[in-house]
Amino acid sequence: MGTSFQLDLKNGSLCSLKQKLVAFTLLLTLAVTSGQSDQPNIVFIMADDLGFNDVGYHGYGEIMTPNIDALARDGVRLENYYVAPLCGPTRTQFLTGRYSIHLGLQGSNLAECTKEGVPLEYRTIANEMKDRGYATHMIEYMDYRNNEDTYHGDLGEYTTTAFTRRAQELITDHNTTQPMFLYLAYQAPHYPLEAPTSYVNMYMSSIPIKERRLYAAMVTALDDGVGQVVQTLKDAGIYNNTVIILSADNGGLAPFASNYPLKGSKGEFYQGEKLYNFGCKHKMETCACLQQVQSLYYFVGVRAVGLVSSPLIKASKRNRNVTSLMHITDWLPTLVNIAGDNTSIEVDGFNQWMSLKKEKILKDRKCCTT
Ligand SMILES: *[C@@H]1O[C@H](CO)[C@@H](O)[C@H](O)[C@H]1NC(C)=O
Ligand SMILES: *[C@@H]1O[C@H](CO)[C@@H](O)[C@H](O)[C@H]1NC(C)=O
Ligand SMILES: *[C@@H]1O[C@H](CO)[C@@H](O)[C@H](O)[C@H]1NC(C)=O
Ligand SMILES: *[C@@H]1O[C@H](CO)[C@@H](O)[C@H](O)[C@H]1NC(C)=O
Repeated sequence: MGTSFQLDLKNGSLCSLKQKLVAFTLLLTLAVTSGQSDQPNIVFIMADDLGFNDVGYHGYGEIMTPNIDALARDGVRLENYYVAPLCGPTRTQFLTGRYSIHLGLQGSNLAECTKEGVPLEYRTIANEMKDRGYATHMIEYMDYRNNEDTYHGDLGEYTTTAFTRRAQELITDHNTTQPMFLYLAYQAPHYPLEAPTSYVNMYMSSIPIKERRLYAAMVTALDDGVGQVVQTLKDAGIYNNTVIILSADNGGLAPFASNYPLKGSKGEFYQGEKLYNFGCKHKMETCACLQQVQSLYYFVGVRAVGLVSSPLIKASKRNRNVTSLMHITDWLPTLVNIAGDNTSIEVDGFNQWMSLKKEKILKDRKCCTT
């Protein structure tokens, strides 16, 4: 057990929710405690407003995500995975393992510069991992509790690039005698629609609609970042003992993102039961069809892209869909189990690790509200 770690809410304000343009990195670099070297490292990557249909392994080849697709092949795809319809409620549920309704944060995102935050009586995933010997790091543009250990820096560069570089530094500098928990929450592909020219150029001829093209470029830049992080884990010699998780925080936003074939938009509670086709034969990538359905595009809020990738999952159990229900609150108890602790944690989420590895099927997870 490490020393106890507590995020303290100072009387400062929460001033970053809307400041997505600012390259805003929040780093919690916590003191080193003793740990068992056989505990897996965990890299949890959160993508912001990533459309369900906008990863290569779901889509129709329109947006290139070769690194994410490779992770999906080397792991399991969560095909019945639920989050909240907005970033704040999803992220606070992730951090605490508690339903939004129990945190009092179910309504919307926290307002800018509010003194509200995650209630102090709830321990975070960082508390839990730290207690189990992990070095914990967070790269985020948001803050949920103002913390004096937090580093806020305007890095003045494209955040996908900046966050990737910081993640690489943390992995490279990591003392491997201790397990590592890295929460890497990218800002991409959230609007504003901006991407380095090299990525935009990849879609110049294939995506005629400017907004969709910029969005696609952002997704591919994100994918590149993911690939670089994976390569850095390999270079550091710790990839084989690492679990990588990728999660969207909610569905993509109309009209540049696509959640096809799910119904609903970011901010909505649709779950995707209904299939809307518009007579487009699923070819959302064609310009004519895109223009035809643009005003009718449907986007999903609460069913999201998710995957778990690791050499620790038996080869015969990889490259498959997990269709049992998984919810964002399940990560906290699941990561605690990945850390080697089998005791159950009193939160709303359920430990799904054995089920994800397909070594033991969990009884059906109860449904939940967000
Ligand atoms: C890594 O941590 C171990 C245990 O605390 C320590 O003995 C070792 O010197 C550290 N290695 C480096 C390179 O700092
Ligand atoms: C992972 O383990 C496999 C099998 O032991 C080994 O061949 C491979 O080189 C290792 N890869 C890394 C990146 O450590
Ligand atoms: C996995 O899920 C995807 C998306 O829902 C679907 O297109 C694909 O056919 C599924 N694959 C298998 C093997 O069931
Ligand atoms: C603890 O959990 C791990 C991983 O879920 C499992 O492999 C192991 O058998 C469990 N140990 C006990 C004593 O239940």
